[in-house]
Amino acid sequence: MAQAVQQTLADPISVVRLGRNLAAEIRDIDLSKPLDAATFTAVHHAFLENEVLIFRDQDISSADMMAFGRLFGELSVHPFSPTMADNPELIILDNHRDNPPRLTDIFHSDETFRETPPLGTILRSTITPRVGGDTMFASMSAAYEGLDDRTQRFLSGLEGEFDFKPFRTLFGNDEEGRRKLHELEDKYPQLCHPVVRVHPESGRKSIFVNRQFTIGIKGMKPSESGPLLEMLFNLAYQPEVQYRLQWQPNTIAFWDNRIVLHYAIHDYYPQRRRMERVTIKGDKPFGVDAPYDGTMIPKRDIELMEIDTPPVANAAPVRAFKQ
Ligand SMILES: [Fe+2]
Repeated sequence: MAQAVQQTLADPISVVRLGRNLAAEIRDIDLSKPLDAATFTAVHHAFLENEVLIFRDQDISSADMMAFGRLFGELSVHPFSPTMADNPELIILDNHRDNPPRLTDIFHSDETFRETPPLGTILRSTITPRVGGDTMFASMSAAYEGLDDRTQRFLSGLEGEFDFKPFRTLFGNDEEGRRKLHELEDKYPQLCHPVVRVHPESGRKSIFVNRQFTIGIKGMKPSESGPLLEMLFNLAYQPEVQYRLQWQPNTIAFWDNRIVLHYAIHDYYPQRRRMERVTIKGDKPFGVDAPYDGTMIPKRDIELMEIDTPPVANAAPVRAFKQ
């Protein structure tokens, strides 16, 4: 069910939807070469529509990946992950027997403890384990759509409280560790983001809290916010809103950090898994109170995809995921 997106392109790309509610593979593209304006527009549109893009067989350099990322915005530097001295925007995630994976086997959106969390993250696999090491993605716009109307309205006025909680464990309890931690607490104080975020480029609403960084809901007692947050965190665990990526060497995933959560499955240890990552700067999240005057980019309904299914008489139309 490849979708022809740009008949006018000299070398047309294909966009193939992978999941019911998110993810598409972009085919017939070589990211080692600069993209012309029309191809970039097609990729950008596919990114907004599908929330996660997958590119296979991209044996490209780190510089190529960074150049691709810069088409979407300025690259950012992670405040806690070790980065390359000469390329601070590049993170190498190299996990093996002596460096077990940690902190990423939980649904999260990258760096949401920041006032302006990243727009998106680009990850390229260079060494993949023989078994395991998949990444799960969850469309939080589909999770929002699946909620009852009254629940949507209730959530729309709330703000989540965020903290760089898991990274606190990186600092020792000695004087130097405490000093560094205080320094970072000053730099990244706890802050609030709307529970229902409006996407700044597609207008879609999504649930913007995650178990890794959201610690409460503004104005609510922990006895009230705790169970509510648990319910919201668990929305990502519905298979209907998920897409599971099996990596091969030279696979690239580019996800929209503003609308999807991801979870790196830690089932491959002690095998080696090496990835390269860059992150694109984002803007300050806003909720339903702020007027959105951009273009609405709806998700392509599955009915419109070319699926070879015989029609069923009197069948109800397929609707967006709703429980
Ligand atoms: Fe992450």
